This record gives sequence, C-alpha cells and structure tokens, in this order.
Amino acid sequence: MSDAVRSGALAIITGAASGIGAALADEAKQAGMALLLSDIDEGKLKAKAAALGADYMVCNVAEPGDVERLANRAASIGVPIGAVFANAGVMKTAPLTKTSPEDWAFMISVNLTGMANMVRSFVPLMTEQETASRFIATSSVAGLVSAPLTGAYNATKHGVVAICETLFQELRKNAPHVGVSVICPGAVQTDILNLEKYGMGEAPSARSEALAKLMAEKGLSAQELAEKVFIELKKGKFWIFPQNYVFDRFEARYQAIINGYGAEWLSKSKADG
Ligand SMILES: NC(=O)c1ccc[n+]([C@@H]2O[C@H](COP(=O)([O-])OP(=O)(O)OC[C@H]3O[C@@H](n4cnc5c(N)ncnc54)[C@H](O)[C@@H]3O)[C@@H](O)[C@H]2O)c1
Repeated sequence: MSDAVRSGALAIITGAASGIGAALADEAKQAGMALLLSDIDEGKLKAKAAALGADYMVCNVAEPGDVERLANRAASIGVPIGAVFANAGVMKTAPLTKTSPEDWAFMISVNLTGMANMVRSFVPLMTEQETASRFIATSSVAGLVSAPLTGAYNATKHGVVAICETLFQELRKNAPHVGVSVICPGAVQTDILNLEKYGMGEAPSARSEALAKLMAEKGLSAQELAEKVFIELKKGKFWIFPQNYVFDRFEARYQAIINGYGAEWLSKSKADG
C-alpha cells in the first residue's frame, strides 16, 4: 500500500494542460490532493488550473533552470509532496533513416533530458521530507517494445524505463519512503499527434495515420487511463500497464532475447499499432 497519492499532499504534474497530464490532474484533485500544474502551453495551462483551482507554473521540462524553479515553487507551497508526475512528452514518427537531427533533439530534449531534469530537481526534495512520496514517470509501451517508424520515440521511452529502474534501485536503501512508478500506456486518445502546437507540422505518414486510427478506435480515454493509474498507484506498483494487451508483445520480445533472434513486430496482434 502506498500513501503517496493521499489527500492533503501535493501533486506536481508536467504536461498537465492536455491529455494524460490533464486527466491525472483531475484524478489527483478527486483524491483530495493539492495541485501544482505545469506545461509549456500557458493558455491551456491557465485554463486547466483555473478549472481545478490549482496552482500552476509554465515550465519547459527540457530546461534545467525551469525545472529547478518548478521544484522551488513546489517546496515553497508548504505542503508535503505526495506525487511527482513527470509526464510531459512528445512524439514524431518517421523511419530512422529519415529522422532528422532536429527531430532527434526535439524528442531527446523533452522525453529524456526532461526526465533527467525532473529527477535531479525533485528527488532530493522528496528524499529530505520524512513523509512518503512517489516519482511517477510516463513512459509508454514503446519503452519496452520497439514498433517500426517510431525509432527515436522508442529510444527515448526505453530511456525513461531505464531511468526509473535505476532510480528505484538507488532509492531502495537510502530513501525507501520515496517510491518510483513507470506508466507504460498503449494507445490513449490525446493530442499527441498534433505537432503544429510545437510549430512542427508533420505531413501525415503511414505510421501517424495508423496511430491516429488506433487511438480513435481502440485507445483508452485519458480519463479512463488516469483512473487505472491511480488504482495501481494506491497499491504501490512500480510497473503500471493500463492496457494488458501489451503483455503478448513483451513475451514475444523476451522470447526473442532468449533465442537470440530479432523480434518481429506483432502487427497482427489484438492491438495493432
Ligand atoms: N497518447 C498516447 O497514446 C500515449 C501512449 C503512451 C505514452 N504517452 C505519453 O503520455 C505523455 C503525455 O502525452 P499525451 O498523450 O497526453 O499528449 P498531449 O500532447 O495531449 O499532452 C502533452 C502535454 O505536454 C506538454 N509539453 C510538451 N512539451 C513540453 C515541454 N518541453 N515541457 C513541458 N510540457 C510540455 C504539451 O504542451 C501538452 O500539454 C507523454 O509522455 C507521451 O509520450 C502517450
């Protein structure tokens, strides 16, 4: 049992203006937590914070100084930290041979450097306080298996899993009151494929069209996902898989590792994507 997502404690959420982050904010509010919401999209962030009566701060997770200021703000609120949701993330699809240096930098800076910044600024605060808290990263199914045409995204989300597994080991002995969880969703109905909001319009590719179809037809709503996440958080789970169709993919990869051959992507599985 974990009491990190307890009433009265503070939840900090990055990428909280939209999609999964916004839904996690709704769940945290329902759980009676105080909220510090952050995002790079100031307009949407303000609106979300106003709707929930939450504190907010614009923060680009890729910028160490921004994340440090967010941590300072969290510390100044005077409420013990319960949950830090390092959720902000971006995705652009392309075959690896066509993934530009700019696209690599875009995904690495937000998904991976952003995660490193969140750990460095928040975990010391959480370690210092005596009450329980939890660092919760949003990775993806793409953090464990590698679909074609999202190579850069896969690489960053594998990195997020590696950071969480390492952090868990590093905290176990010295700060057992700080838990770690990694959320690995499959398709969720959000705005993630809309790159125009980052000034990076993308001509629809076969992969982005397939993902859009998958999200629309089989994706969880962000709200459903957030509800499942909170159920698992209350159990103190490290691995959080809101959709269990992903297990056949993990099994196939594991078998491929043991056998020493490359795993073919399970394109005919129940949840194609
Ligand atoms: N939607 C899915 O199917 C899916 C599946 C698996 C994992 N995820 C992960 O879920 C997380 C949330 O994505 P989403 O689907 O809700 O997408 P979304 O685009 O709806 O929301 C992402 C939010 O992050 C914010 N953001 C982007 N860059 C930022 C930065 N540098 N600093 C701070 N905020 C920033 C955006 O403004 C946006 O509000 C991401 O980490 C994503 O990789 C999504």
